[in-house]
Amino acid sequence: MKVLVVGSGGREHAIIRALARSPLVTELLCAPGNAGIVADAECLPVAADAVDQIVQLAAERNVELVVVGPEAPLVGGLVDALRAAGIAAFGPVAAAARLEGSKAYAKEVMEAAGVPTGGWTTALSVEQAIAAVRGYPAVIKFDGLAAGKGVVIAADEAEARAALEEFLVERRFGDGQVVVEEFLEGEELSLLALCDGERAVPMAPAQDYKRIFDGDLGPNTGGMGSYCPVPGVDAARVAELSALVHQPIVDYFAAAGTPFHGVLYAGLMMTVEGPKVLEYNARFGDPETQAVLPRLRSDLAELLLAATKSGGLAGRELDWDPRWAVTVVLASAGYPDSPRLGDAISGLERITDPLELTCAGVAAVEGALVTAGGRVLNVTALGETPAAARAAAYAGVEEIEFDGKQARSDIALRAEEST
Ligand code: AMP
Ligand code: GLY
Repeated sequence: MKVLVVGSGGREHAIIRALARSPLVTELLCAPGNAGIVADAECLPVAADAVDQIVQLAAERNVELVVVGPEAPLVGGLVDALRAAGIAAFGPVAAAARLEGSKAYAKEVMEAAGVPTGGWTTALSVEQAIAAVRGYPAVIKFDGLAAGKGVVIAADEAEARAALEEFLVERRFGDGQVVVEEFLEGEELSLLALCDGERAVPMAPAQDYKRIFDGDLGPNTGGMGSYCPVPGVDAARVAELSALVHQPIVDYFAAAGTPFHGVLYAGLMMTVEGPKVLEYNARFGDPETQAVLPRLRSDLAELLLAATKSGGLAGRELDWDPRWAVTVVLASAGYPDSPRLGDAISGLERITDPLELTCAGVAAVEGALVTAGGRVLNVTALGETPAAARAAAYAGVEEIEFDGKQARSDIALRAEEST
């Protein structure tokens, strides 16, 4: 089977690595990929959100399965266009991907589907939003795709006003609305499921680290690391959570006539009142995928193809390596505000099996890799214990050098301490 993966980050590299393990896969293409992914797939210079060009590429190259990594092409209708052209595509159609594309719409769907989530209201102006705040800290969410920069936890009214000015005036989008949400406390959990339009098959639970600095300090980022599985969240608990937060959404979109095929990613807050959904994503998480997929023993290519067919995942259970996986992200100087590009990267040749190196913001200059984005590289290690996986991942992180390299030192420390 010829497979095309759409995207250019660490998540797509991890998907490609997992697909490469499948005996069904004969050829791997990536659009556009990056200077590190070229080692594992043929990279083609087509932008991930160039819908017509991706369809044309898939048709010309007789691709049998397209796997869409990022949210923008999903929301932009890439899967709709591929399906119309008769090409199997893993990912939701635009009508279902809107679950990620609009925070207000996601809240409406959660309410209609009976999924537990924090109290919320929408507002169209700064004053309306301030009036809707029930106390501080207050959670203010941009109502559109924001690449990890759409949520502000405001400590007081001044911070709330600053965020609202930014969301409603400077970055005004669509109807120009925001969601004001109840602040929830607890441990976060990322629970992803493969969906075939009828049912959700949960994947192993993962944890990601959104803040830039140790101890969850500093601004939110796209994600600085992850681990999988999560202590205390066993298979029975995963099944229970999935029945609560995945299946009702799959049922909702099936009833709406736009069945959800692809990954349904629930970002959960485990509150004292029980689990509540913070957000849904309509795709694999980044960097959760880099820690989840190395543990998957089932054939990913076969599963993703099956998920494109109605009910194709019936009776499936996923088989997982019992070991722990830890992924540490290496980010460039200045990330997340203004990542510096062009710093020479060294030491990559020292990251060898069984460590897994996945590449995100990298470019090749005269045959050598340089930084070319905020999140640059991911190092993933498996271990018999969280401590062993952590130690191995951080040993890898130490080998890689570039000016201004940023990495958190506490990824999976929580898992290590609680096992
Ligand atoms: P989201 O993009 O909605 O997942 O939000 C990004 C991050 O903001 C989440 O991973 C949480 O850390 C935080 N967050 C979002 N909503 C809330 C909330 N209602 N209460 C507390 N933290 C939140
Ligand atoms: N790790 C968070 C995300 O993929 O949105």
